[in-house]
Amino acid sequence: MDIDFDVKHGLEGVAVAISSISYIDGEKGKLVYRGFEIEDLVENSHFEETAYLIWFSSLPNENEIDFITSMLAKKRTLPKKIIEMMKSFPKNAHPMGVLRSVVSLLGMYSKKDSSTLENAINLTAKIPTIIAYWYRIKNNLPLIPPKESLKHSENFLYMMFGEIPKHSDLFDKALILHLEQGMNASTFASTVTASTLSDIYSIITTAIGTLKGPLHGGANEKVLNMFKEIKSVENVEPYIYTLISNKEKIMGFGHRIYKTYDPRAKILKHWIKDLFLKDNVEYFEIALKVEEIVIKEFKEKKIFPNVDFYSGILYNYFNIPSEFFTTIFAMARIVGWTAHAMEYRKNNRIFRPRSIYNGPKGLKYKEVKGVEKNG
Ligand code: CMC
Repeated sequence: MDIDFDVKHGLEGVAVAISSISYIDGEKGKLVYRGFEIEDLVENSHFEETAYLIWFSSLPNENEIDFITSMLAKKRTLPKKIIEMMKSFPKNAHPMGVLRSVVSLLGMYSKKDSSTLENAINLTAKIPTIIAYWYRIKNNLPLIPPKESLKHSENFLYMMFGEIPKHSDLFDKALILHLEQGMNASTFASTVTASTLSDIYSIITTAIGTLKGPLHGGANEKVLNMFKEIKSVENVEPYIYTLISNKEKIMGFGHRIYKTYDPRAKILKHWIKDLFLKDNVEYFEIALKVEEIVIKEFKEKKIFPNVDFYSGILYNYFNIPSEFFTTIFAMARIVGWTAHAMEYRKNNRIFRPRSIYNGPKGLKYKEVKGVEKNG
């Protein structure tokens, strides 16, 4: 066995870039975008403004906010041929598979001379249209074209449902919470693609495929499915203790970096609690009971709710089906993916780690009787 190298399983504790985009203090439960605490941004900012901050490193002035808002509004439409292709997709295709495929298709329709930043803004503008159109196509509903006068988040809800629901500001703020999160799995995967000098469509296709997995962004869908299976508060105890005794992972809990409450989960829980006091918010009481048991049982392992534990309850409140949840995550995180790709490229070096070979050596080829030889 090759013993010159040390394997860092899951790259735990390995830094692969120097970045000024976001900062996480996993012990204190802090998340900071470009120097601004996440609590400050969700309270006072909105999607377009925070996206500008992530891409351009500072908050926009009046002209700059007009620029980013109009760029994101003008680029929302999809080529007609792509819409026709989407209509031919199997209706049971998972929305994340559709999103990944349509982003890839868009790469063939892009202008060759656009900058990475222009393409990043263009794709960020189009992703909500892809998601909403797929929702409408899947449900045999007429498509609702985007409206330039609406904000990014409002326009998405409008294209999904034909109206802007009450408390839509919370949806906008939830996007801010998901914009960026350091070198997480999908950002790392997309940075690897960026490091080969591939194009932005390939970078984002890589990222979407990585986010889809249930250990990453796909967890939000699994969490809501778990709540649906649990059905009532009385069923929480037997359900969760069965998972624990079977040594199964409980979705929406745990994080590689946060060893305390994920600040995003804390904010989401607070909003949902407020909504719950005024309105009917499904699954909140079940979630509270699940959280109580998991925190108690995994005290030593420091396992707390992560962002995916509470986000689905909010999306469900807006009538977004659970299989679409991870696409909402992607709709926001594209900003972080593209910002990291551009930042990494400033000091680019191709990723090329090693694996340690532990297979056989010195074998000699022997002809297998009855198998035709090459050529
Ligand atoms: N339920 C039960 N046990 C858990 C959980 C969980 N959700 N998460 C971690 N553990 C245990 C794990 O079994 C291990 O125990 P032991 O040391 O006895 O083998 C220990 O805690 C360390 O876990 P790990 O899987 O080695 O930790 P990791 O840093 O490799 O993985 C994680 C992090 C998020 C993949 C993991 O916590 C997990 O699978 N969580 C459930 C899926 C989930 O909610 N994912 C969303 C992550 S946050 C948003 C995002 O990035 O998408």
